[in-house]
Amino acid sequence: LSSTEVKPSNVSSFDSRGPIFKGQYCRSFGCCEDRDDDCVTHFYEANALCYCDNFCERENSDCCPDYNLWDPRRILICSYVMLVGCFRDGQLYEEGSVIKENCNSCTCSGQQWKCSQLVCLVQPELIEHVNKGDYGWTAQNYSQFWGMTLEEGFKYRLGTLPPSPMLLSMNEMTASLPATTDLPEFFIASYKWPGWTHGPLDQKNCAASWAFSTASVAADRIAIQSNGRYTANLSPQNLISCCAKNRHGCNSGSIDRAWWFLRKRGLVSHACYPLFKDQNATNYGCAMASRSDGRGKRHATKPCPNNIEKSNRIYQCSPPYRVSSNETEIMKEIMQNGPVQAIMQVHEDFFHYKTGIYRHITRTNEESRKYQKLQTHAVKLTGWGTLKGAQGQKEKFWIAANSWGISWGENGYFRILRGVNESDIEKLIIAAWGHLTSSDEP
Ligand SMILES: *[C@@H]1O[C@H](CO)[C@@H](O)[C@H](O)[C@H]1NC(C)=O
Ligand SMILES: *[C@@H]1O[C@H](CO)[C@@H](O)[C@H](O)[C@H]1NC(C)=O
Ligand SMILES: *[C@@H]1O[C@H](CO)[C@@H](O)[C@H](O)[C@H]1NC(C)=O
Ligand SMILES: *[C@@H]1O[C@H](CO)[C@@H](O)[C@H](O)[C@H]1NC(C)=O
Repeated sequence: LSSTEVKPSNVSSFDSRGPIFKGQYCRSFGCCEDRDDDCVTHFYEANALCYCDNFCERENSDCCPDYNLWDPRRILICSYVMLVGCFRDGQLYEEGSVIKENCNSCTCSGQQWKCSQLVCLVQPELIEHVNKGDYGWTAQNYSQFWGMTLEEGFKYRLGTLPPSPMLLSMNEMTASLPATTDLPEFFIASYKWPGWTHGPLDQKNCAASWAFSTASVAADRIAIQSNGRYTANLSPQNLISCCAKNRHGCNSGSIDRAWWFLRKRGLVSHACYPLFKDQNATNYGCAMASRSDGRGKRHATKPCPNNIEKSNRIYQCSPPYRVSSNETEIMKEIMQNGPVQAIMQVHEDFFHYKTGIYRHITRTNEESRKYQKLQTHAVKLTGWGTLKGAQGQKEKFWIAANSWGISWGENGYFRILRGVNESDIEKLIIAAWGHLTSSDEP
């Protein structure tokens, strides 16, 4: 008998309490019968429990002599041992071990895993529910969200403050297209303006959708309005690090301040001021500065904070304006002037979106309340379309760019029901003009 003999590779069968190990002799010649679960001792050398069994003498010796221990009460003839500790995925963990199970940590205590009971962002039951149902979209288990709590997901992956009363009371503008303009069934901004619109970036755990969506809409509109003269993507990091009156950075911010900054200070390109690897960039301070030429146009007074990009040109916008919440008006605005910003409400199921036309799924069991959450987010609407639903009905959708990287959703984009204010997507639509001076004209 040696303690090294008891290794997971020796597992021969399982028991409700764990794996049963058999020693060498026992494996070769067969074990004794009738394990007595009430007669047991801790077998420290092997970190195992040793059980009494039938004593069957075979030429003066136990028939199963592998584990032969002395117990003050009686001789234990032990051909079965049970490991002490906890099992998971075929592996034994010692007492006191801690493992992570999604967003919860589990400790092996008294041969059982005891887990914390936090609500996780990735909810496997929700994924299953969505994928089994006929909701028009499918859900996925995203590895980048696995291990986060629901709280953390909402805290780090969104980041737009609820719109201020000022923003909500802005006058609505309507595109100048005549009311009778025929709107196409499908519209995709990147087809109409190839190379002038910008795809989704990844905000990672930086709660700054206020900055990502604003920079992206501004960049698209400057490219479109300048007829392709200025096609650079604009730097969300510039906003996150420098929008000083908006000292939230990666801890949420307001859309009004972001547009204020675009108008008054302007942004350099994304290539000039790229995202920091550690997006907790509020710790870094602002790496860009500018001065006004007296006519409101700003010029950078610092080089780009990287060695590759030389152009530190500053891009500015007009004051933002609110587009009507009327579906047709939003479509006309996008088609005529480019993508728009939409402030939406994100529910827990949205994180799992993979493909299809998103609509919020409510589950109605008693427990479900603690799995639910709702918070403001900002995205970019880039087009629309129509699809035949499962019942043959027409399903209208928006195409929107998120800021969770291109591995999320449909290459970083998602489709969402159109015309029914799904998740408040039509509640507040914002856009702006590029601020191009005469010296910018070709
Ligand atoms: C989800 O993904 C994570 C990480 O990629 C993986 O460890 C986990 O087992 C998956 N969970 C389910 C329920 O598929
Ligand atoms: C950012 O910093 C906060 C507070 O120090 C921390 O809780 C959070 O995890 C950090 N986020 C990232 C992405 O490192
Ligand atoms: C939206 O505006 C269009 C005209 O652009 C109008 O025909 C339609 O009735 C409006 N819809 C609603 C719900 O007000
Ligand atoms: C969209 O829904 C929200 C919340 O229900 C509501 O406050 C808002 O007025 C709605 N907007 C439109 C255009 O229906």
